[in-house]
Amino acid sequence: MMNKIAILLLIITALTSTLMANEPDSAYIFSYATTENSGRNGLHLAWSHDAVEWHNIGNRYSFVKSDYGNWGGQKRMVDPYMIRTDNGTWFCVWSVNESHNTFAWTKTENLMSWKPQDYPLLKTANCQRPVISFNNSDNTFTLTYISNEKYYSITTSDFKTFSETKEVQSSDYKTNTITKEMPEGNVSGQMFKVSWNEVDALIKFCGYKQYKNELANERTDKDGERFANLKPITATITAKPDMAKPISDMLIGIFFEDINYAADGGIYAELVQNRDFEYNVADTKGRNKEWNSLYAWNLAGEGATLGIDTTAPIHSNNKHYAVVNISNIGASIANSGFDGITIRNNEIYDVSLFVKQEEGKGGKIEIKLVTDDKTVLASKTITATSSKWEKKSVALTASADADNARLEITPKYIGKTTFDMVSLFPRNTFNGRKNGLRADLATTLADIKPRFIRFPGGCVAHGDGIENIYRWKNSIGPLEARVPMRNIWSYHQTLGLGFYEYFQFCEDIKAEPLPVIAAGVPCQNSAVGGAGQQGGIPIDEMDSYIQDILDLIEWANGDGKKTKWGKIRAESGHPEPFNLKYIGIGNEDLISDVFAERYSMICKAVKSKYPDIKIIGTVGPFFEGSDYETGWKLADELNLDMVDEHYYQTPGWYIYNQDFYDRYDRSKSKVYLGEYAAHLPRRPNNLETALAEALYLTSVERNGDVVAMSSYAPLLAKEKHTQWNPDLIYFNNKEVKPTVGYHVQKLYGNNSGNEYISSSIKLSDNNEKVTNRIARSFVRDSITGDIIIKLVNMLPVEVASKIELQNLVSDNTTATATIMTGNPADRNILPQTSDIKIDETFDYKMPAYSFSVIRISNTRP
Ligand code: AHR
Repeated sequence: MMNKIAILLLIITALTSTLMANEPDSAYIFSYATTENSGRNGLHLAWSHDAVEWHNIGNRYSFVKSDYGNWGGQKRMVDPYMIRTDNGTWFCVWSVNESHNTFAWTKTENLMSWKPQDYPLLKTANCQRPVISFNNSDNTFTLTYISNEKYYSITTSDFKTFSETKEVQSSDYKTNTITKEMPEGNVSGQMFKVSWNEVDALIKFCGYKQYKNELANERTDKDGERFANLKPITATITAKPDMAKPISDMLIGIFFEDINYAADGGIYAELVQNRDFEYNVADTKGRNKEWNSLYAWNLAGEGATLGIDTTAPIHSNNKHYAVVNISNIGASIANSGFDGITIRNNEIYDVSLFVKQEEGKGGKIEIKLVTDDKTVLASKTITATSSKWEKKSVALTASADADNARLEITPKYIGKTTFDMVSLFPRNTFNGRKNGLRADLATTLADIKPRFIRFPGGCVAHGDGIENIYRWKNSIGPLEARVPMRNIWSYHQTLGLGFYEYFQFCEDIKAEPLPVIAAGVPCQNSAVGGAGQQGGIPIDEMDSYIQDILDLIEWANGDGKKTKWGKIRAESGHPEPFNLKYIGIGNEDLISDVFAERYSMICKAVKSKYPDIKIIGTVGPFFEGSDYETGWKLADELNLDMVDEHYYQTPGWYIYNQDFYDRYDRSKSKVYLGEYAAHLPRRPNNLETALAEALYLTSVERNGDVVAMSSYAPLLAKEKHTQWNPDLIYFNNKEVKPTVGYHVQKLYGNNSGNEYISSSIKLSDNNEKVTNRIARSFVRDSITGDIIIKLVNMLPVEVASKIELQNLVSDNTTATATIMTGNPADRNILPQTSDIKIDETFDYKMPAYSFSVIRISNTRP
């Protein structure tokens, strides 16, 4: 990877070429943080020529922000303390909050790029007002700090290993912290004398950042002013068939995560909510006190009780079950599903449940689908008499439509009966799979023609704290033996949609499976477990954790008869291997030492046992910064096949960063752009965001030799249960509502190629605000021989283009054009396709704010 800072400085210098005639040799800088925004604004710098009159650098730009703990609650920088060692490196430590037994440290050579950032654990209860000093003679740092009104110190040479903690006298606590009057008031921090060049570089760096920021914040709502004098644009676009290169044929995929009720209550077709009676208030982090074992269940009728027991469960992984004690026949329990149960006339619904007689002989139990007004939509009777757990199944055929039905269970006898794993599935699942997926949602995904599916997250993969890491083995086998768990997005995962079902769906839609496994660390924003990334899986448990990952590969690919895990897969119903080719290790992790140690162990073990499996590593949650840079460095060292980049940015960012991957070194790891989306204030998914994504994807196709895969995120969101916006597809129990962005993904997925054909463009207006808003890409699909041209116009005016195909057209060439166009704020634009007439050179008008896909068949090879 190129040295971005060096490039940045060159650009800064070029941008700010005015030379000062009379510059000082040196000046002062002052480093400080404020308590604004609960201390989350990070480290500011100010400069002064006389240490009296201070000037904020970059309008209080945050040179480094704390990345500790969870969003919303943590990420605080309290009392930062900065020093500079004799070799010029800057170090900064700070307290992360008032209660955790850790401190943060980071370093930089130039005050602009800080890395890594880490949080060593301390032996004391907390760490307040940390101060560091550096001893040149033995190259050690001494950290002195306060905890519960006592003073402590430790030494270290590398911030990895530390001396014993020593309690010291208050007189040993020596600090250079002073108070200075800034434009915003008095602040405390540290002052340093530096060369003027250093100050100058900081000022220019902030100027450059501000310039980039302004570009990134350009939105269509100001296009009226921005393009008030814009003349009609003409373009000549010329294909260069002699300059073609192979590109990835896997570019468009999907990323499925159980966020926004995407799985339970979403694509997983189970209609009973809390079928396992395992809901727990902890799933919602204590926020919803009603979220317990009886959530979504209720008891009706006189002379009956409904309770929960755990003494004799069907399986130890599934401890809770319902106990119904009936002394008056007629009482029933009912489940209201996820926002009601949607039933369709004449459809068959499969009910299954485990039942046991605790007291009494049992007898007949009526199973019904009923509406609010007590209309019975379907009814059947089972007989349950055993005092041991028995599985009973029955199929119900609905006699009418209903949107708000419930499943009612009515024992027709007096006695005490226990129930568990009460399930209701439509027979009509996607591809008719048992324990399958909602057909309408799964079809909508399949229609994208995704080349791969990444699952199960995202944050769900690495979890909120170590105990919440997703363990694939917990998600396979009989449903009653799976281990339900708290979902990091604050609800419940039954894991009914588990690895077997994910792999099967991939196979059904001919997409490569891409499972993501936590890199031995939980989410860097973990709210649970105290110190976020500090909570890596203990090293002495890593061997068994790694074995689980190797077992996954054997489970997916091993011989169904000869290997232990291959046999388990075969017994689940899939004798043939799934042919797994990719595995993701880590997700947006903080690239700390704790992470690096575990990640390296995993990657090396997988490479050594399964050299053909492509490992996709992680480089943090942003397109720049410490995790991105350190993550890439680590990927280089480990020689990883691919890394997973994530960035959610404004439409303006995508418009002005179309050269992002043109800058990448082709000899290094390939890129999986695993999560991206254009975000506007209030987070709509509208034509503006969709066009920004379409525009950026032309550059992804152009760089299809370095970007191997991409997936928009997040994918699914259930209305009224959405934790994150925008998403690609919204839905409720009855309807699927693909967004404008979905149609862009679908158009790319259905019109991909494996060869990129270069082209040139000549525009009548070369203002960068115009040129960056028009994009094109030519690809050839070698299977059909078709050539596909994608054209994006994000301007408020039409672009009249002349397209020169340069000998690609034959006598019987035909073409279609599919266009999405409208008002940038529109959320309901649908693509329109028509036949068009084309020739070697043809005219094509790109409407204002439009995405066009021209598909040309019967081309010349
Ligand atoms: O896509 C939603 C979330 O965004 C993912 O879980 C996580 O990886 C990212 O922060």
